[in-house]
Amino acid sequence: MPEILPIGGGKGGVGKSFVAVNLGALIANSGHRVVLLDLDLGASNLHTLLGIKNPRGGIDDFLSKKAATLEKVAEPTPIANLTFISSLHCSMEIANLFHAQKVKLVSAIKTLPFDFIIMDLGAGTNFNTLDFFLASEKGIFVCTPEPTAIENAFRFIKSAYLRKLKQIINLNAFNKMVKHAVLESGRGDLGSSDIIDIVLKYDPGREMFLRESISRFQFGFIMNQFRKNIAPDIGEKMKAVCNRHFYSKFQFFGNVAFDERVSESVLKKKLFALHYPDTEAAAALKNIAERLSQKRSLADRMSEVS
Ligand SMILES: Nc1ncnc2c1ncn2[C@@H]1O[C@H](COP(=O)(O)OP(=O)(O)O)[C@@H](O)[C@H]1O
Ligand SMILES: [Mg+2]
Repeated sequence: MPEILPIGGGKGGVGKSFVAVNLGALIANSGHRVVLLDLDLGASNLHTLLGIKNPRGGIDDFLSKKAATLEKVAEPTPIANLTFISSLHCSMEIANLFHAQKVKLVSAIKTLPFDFIIMDLGAGTNFNTLDFFLASEKGIFVCTPEPTAIENAFRFIKSAYLRKLKQIINLNAFNKMVKHAVLESGRGDLGSSDIIDIVLKYDPGREMFLRESISRFQFGFIMNQFRKNIAPDIGEKMKAVCNRHFYSKFQFFGNVAFDERVSESVLKKKLFALHYPDTEAAAALKNIAERLSQKRSLADRMSEVS
């Protein structure tokens, strides 16, 4: 079974693509077969970070049936063991995927024959992004220590829970519950947390089942662009808040320092973590990549034993 790691997080510019591509390269460097998917449909730029000028094909070829399988549109990168699937040529229609196309794409992603499937997602909480994020229970979100990024990350997490519940509950029943709750509360401004609680409690017979479904997530997060003047424990504090207020366990993967050489590396078309391995930011990324690789190796050993 591949390890599927969607990288999301609400806000644009926090470093989702930077984290995705560098983790992909570092995990590939440790010998695992990794595929990186650019799922920021309509605003893709992973190919540039990978130094690939013109991707040969991509997700659009798979969705338009030009390519028989998603694997067929994967292409090698300059880094050993790291393969790439582009969405550069996705047209506007494809950027706003139809439901059936999305289901087809998500199920194809889940069966890609790699050890790690890393998905770089776009900003915001639109249904495409949330559905890609929910392709795995191990979604990672990236945020920066700024209040706006943290706020967007919380909004993203709540939207992910709500979307998961919507996937489980019949849509008509879901809409009925929310309508009923809005009428009862006399408020037209219910937030997603209120709605999650209402949905969970609406049918007491199913409450346990619904709670269990959203408690299975093992969300992780990374604080990127971390600067020296910020309290180093902000990530741990955020983890504690998440574990107290949300419905599943959160892991904090660590702080990745802000480093001027990140933009230099993009200009030089070099991957930051490989080109500047002695920086604090690269060491933090390496540490995260090792944690993710070790988990995978452990899971492999366990499956061999059982
Ligand atoms: N740790 C970092 N230090 C310095 N600059 C960074 C860091 N992480 C990301 N950046 C820069 O921030 C900008 C946004 O990063 P990007 O990965 O494109 O964000 P997102 O994918 O979340 O929109 C880019 O110019 C990138 O080079
Ligand atoms: Mg991006």
